[in-house]
Amino acid sequence: MTSLRLTAFFLLFFSKAEAQSWFFPELRNLGAPELAPFEFGVASGDPLPDAVVIWTKLFIESNLPEKVLWEMAADSLFQNLVQTGEEFTYGTSAYTVKVDVRNLDAGTTYFYRFKHGDRYSPIGRTKTASQNSELLRLAVISCADYQNGFFNAFGDIAKRNDLDAVLHLGDYIYEYGVWRGGPRKMMRNRVREHIPDKLCTELKDYRTRYGQYRLDPQLREAHRRHPFIVIWDDHEIANNVTAGGSSDGRAIGDWEARKAAAKQAYFEWMPIRENKERSIVRSFSFGGLAELWMLDGRLEGRSQQAKGPNDPALNSPDRHMLGSKQTDWLLNGMAASKARWKIIGNQVVFSQLNDSKVFDRRPSVRMDRWDGYPAERQHIFDFVEKNGLKNIVVVTGDVHTSWAFELTRNPADPAVYNRKTGKGVVGAEFVTPSVTSFNFDDVAPKFIIVEAKRRFKKKKNNPHLRFVDLNRHGYLTLTLTPERAQSDWYYVKRKDKVDDRVKRKASRFILFNGNRVEK
Ligand SMILES: [Fe+2]
Repeated sequence: MTSLRLTAFFLLFFSKAEAQSWFFPELRNLGAPELAPFEFGVASGDPLPDAVVIWTKLFIESNLPEKVLWEMAADSLFQNLVQTGEEFTYGTSAYTVKVDVRNLDAGTTYFYRFKHGDRYSPIGRTKTASQNSELLRLAVISCADYQNGFFNAFGDIAKRNDLDAVLHLGDYIYEYGVWRGGPRKMMRNRVREHIPDKLCTELKDYRTRYGQYRLDPQLREAHRRHPFIVIWDDHEIANNVTAGGSSDGRAIGDWEARKAAAKQAYFEWMPIRENKERSIVRSFSFGGLAELWMLDGRLEGRSQQAKGPNDPALNSPDRHMLGSKQTDWLLNGMAASKARWKIIGNQVVFSQLNDSKVFDRRPSVRMDRWDGYPAERQHIFDFVEKNGLKNIVVVTGDVHTSWAFELTRNPADPAVYNRKTGKGVVGAEFVTPSVTSFNFDDVAPKFIIVEAKRRFKKKKNNPHLRFVDLNRHGYLTLTLTPERAQSDWYYVKRKDKVDDRVKRKASRFILFNGNRVEK
């Protein structure tokens, strides 16, 4: 062997022997070896009338390209194959496989699976967006802190057969290490520990964290059974993150590198359609019934949070939640839409929420919500009113509690809004509780919760508020028909153990062209 060939041989041999590990080794302890190499399961998402993204990831250590075959069928026995293909996947994506399957039929259920070597993945089920249906039902979910409980809400979603898709509004993961401090009540809720035990700042950290979440059997099963339409909130990146960085005061090193790592891991793990900018801003059509706009109120254009309600910068028109480009896209899209319902999937509470009588000493909590960006919200309402838009339904996560609001430009101004007649109402906002993340019940004694709820519900404080629950965990479903848009809140019995008891506890709806959120 010439020395050059010898070097090449050793390089190849060495690189194979020293195959890169894409995750922290502790991840292996959580594995489901019977699924190997498909321990993370399968997923699908971003359904269009004629396309859907299917996803899997190989849990292998390798440096070589790996070939994966995929099949999509009209039946779960794969006797009626619709499409097949093969993909190569590489270490650069930690062996993610994502296929945007095209030329499908609208409103149709499909089954899919992958094959690596002689091993098949679990069989996934998915559905394209229907264009002529008179019924659309979406589960809406957010805020699943692995450490703070078991994912019984996902377990319940996995079992349902009446969903078209699942909207995940963010905080899919939490970036923290293991919780060690905090009130006693909070610590008692810590039923599992994060890996790696550090704040996620680098690609390997985020990858491992997603891997840990996706090894949760209930979350994995929810992905296997339904297409997801996802957006991130802050914890996929950093607490209270904005376009320019994180305000959580932690030492975060090179911000641009951290942001890029977090976005890369998100796009590796989520069944979201690939795009060059790794943007999550996109829309979905469900025919004449509904159109859905998914927003990025974090990284796309958000300005730094104001310091509090007395910050002179608060009302500045130069401060943005979405940024002008995204706002124009949303508003022009809604104005041009022929769909009956205009659905907005959004991270943080859009409606005015007067919590000054509840959080007297913490006025800054609302600065991260739309209340902290009043000029841009005003601009949106101005456009909506000027163009006579109605039938807008905003769905929101982030606050770990359940809410229903009548959407109005200014609930505090009787010239704009009338609680009795519904004057000034252009739609509804429905807020989904957390899967497990801390809500009032996890941190506060009961008498405080009762008092907080009373103050929130006072007509003087929040006249447009039509439902609130501060205690419970779960998810909501948004059911759309030509006549009405209805939110149903489903709550888990417990989250400290895997448990399948889940009950529908509340419902609110708004009629088409209606101006009241009703029971
Ligand atoms: Fe959250």
